[in-house]
Amino acid sequence: MSVSHPAKGAVTVNLGDRSYGIEINGSLEAVGEQLTQLGLGRKIAVVTNPTVKQLYGQRLIDSLKGAEFQVMSIEIPDGEEYKTLDWANSIYTALLINHFDRQSALVALGGGVIGDLTGFAAATFMRGIPFVQVPSTLLAMVDSSVGGKTGVNHPMGKNMIGAFHQPKRVLMDLGVLKTLAKEEFLAGMAEVIKYGIIADAALFDYLDTHRTRILDLDPDALGHIIGRSCEIKADVVAKDEREAGLRAILNFGHTIGHAIETLENYTMRHGYAVAIGMVTASRLAHEGGFCDSSVPERVEKLIKSYGLPTGLSALKRRPAPVEFLDAIQVDKKAEGGTVRFVLPKKIGEVVITKEWDETVLQKILSQ
Ligand SMILES: NC(=O)c1ccc[n+]([C@@H]2O[C@H](COP(=O)([O-])OP(=O)(O)OC[C@H]3O[C@@H](n4cnc5c(N)ncnc54)[C@H](O)[C@@H]3O)[C@@H](O)[C@H]2O)c1
Ligand SMILES: [Zn+2]
Repeated sequence: MSVSHPAKGAVTVNLGDRSYGIEINGSLEAVGEQLTQLGLGRKIAVVTNPTVKQLYGQRLIDSLKGAEFQVMSIEIPDGEEYKTLDWANSIYTALLINHFDRQSALVALGGGVIGDLTGFAAATFMRGIPFVQVPSTLLAMVDSSVGGKTGVNHPMGKNMIGAFHQPKRVLMDLGVLKTLAKEEFLAGMAEVIKYGIIADAALFDYLDTHRTRILDLDPDALGHIIGRSCEIKADVVAKDEREAGLRAILNFGHTIGHAIETLENYTMRHGYAVAIGMVTASRLAHEGGFCDSSVPERVEKLIKSYGLPTGLSALKRRPAPVEFLDAIQVDKKAEGGTVRFVLPKKIGEVVITKEWDETVLQKILSQ
C-alpha cells in the first residue's frame, strides 16, 4: 500500500459534504476572516491552555473579534492528564452558561491534547457542533488535527472514550513552532518520518537532505514536510475514514510504540516511543523477508540523525522480551485476536500483516 501525489499550499480532506480544507501557510491574524466563509453562527469559544493562550491567544481572539464573532475563551490546564471527561464537562458547562446553540462553534488552539478534547466536546455538545482546529505543535499539525479522531482518556486507558467528528477547517500558522520545545518538535518529526516510510520515498529523501533547514525551522522546508504529511493523512482518511483497513497503515511503529509508552508509564514522549517502534518494526520486516536489509538501516539512520531514540537502551528500565510481548497483546485484545503489524516492503510502501514471528521479535528485542 502506498499513497502519493505532489504537495501544494492547501490540502483538502475529501469526505463528501464533510470535506474540509487544511491551510498550511495561514496566519493567526487571518483565522477570523477564514471562518466567516464557513457559515458558522456568531458565537465562538476558543479552547486552549494557559501556555498557548499566553503566547497566541490574543492574536487569535483579536482576529475572530475583527471578523465580528462573539468570542469567549475556555482554559484547560496544560497536560495530558486533563484530557478527561471531567474537563470535557467543564467545556459543556461554559457553553451552556453562555447560551451556545447548535450553530455555535469551537476553535481548538493548542496541541493534540487540546485538539482531541475540544473535538470531543464539539462532537457531543448538543449531538454535535462545528469545530475548527488551530494546531500549535508539530504533532498536531501533521497528525492529530487531521482526520476527525477525537476523544478523552479514561483512568483505565488512553483515548478510550471518543468519537469521529471532522473539523470544518484546519488552520496553521507555522510561526508558532518557534516557541515549541525542541523535544516536542522532534516528537512530531517522528510522525513526519513515518509518512515517508509508509507512503512517500521522496519525502523520506527530503528529510535526509534538508535536515538542517528543517531543524532551523526554515518556513519553506517546514511548509513542504507538513504539507506532504497532511496530504498523505488526508488521502488515507478519505479512503478509510473509520479504519476498516487502510487507515491502519498510519499505525506504523505504533504497536511497539504503545507498548513502550505503557512500560515506561507514559514518561516517554509518544513520538520517541514511535521512533523506536519504527526501527524495531523495520527490523522485524527484514527478518520476516518483507524487505531487504537497507530498509531497517536507512530507517534507523534517519531517525538517529534527528536525535530520536532507535532502541530499547533509551528506556529508563529495560523490559524483558516477554513483558514486551504482553504489552503488545493489549493491541491484540482491541483487534479481537491477532496483532497486526504494519511492516515496510520498501521505503514508501508498507503492508498490514498478521504474518510475523514472535521468536524473531523476541530476538530483536533482546539485542
Ligand atoms: N486525534 C488523533 O488522531 C491523534 C493523533 C495523534 C496524537 N493524538 C493525541 O495528541 C496528544 C499529544 O499532542 P501533542 O504532542 O501536541 O501534545 P500537547 O498538546 O500536550 O502539547 C505539548 C506541549 O507543548 C505546549 N505547546 C503547544 N503549542 C505550543 C507552542 N506553539 N509553543 C510552545 N508550547 C506549545 C503545550 O502546552 C504542551 O505543554 C495526545 O493526547 C494524543 O493522544 C491524537
Ligand atoms: Zn502517533
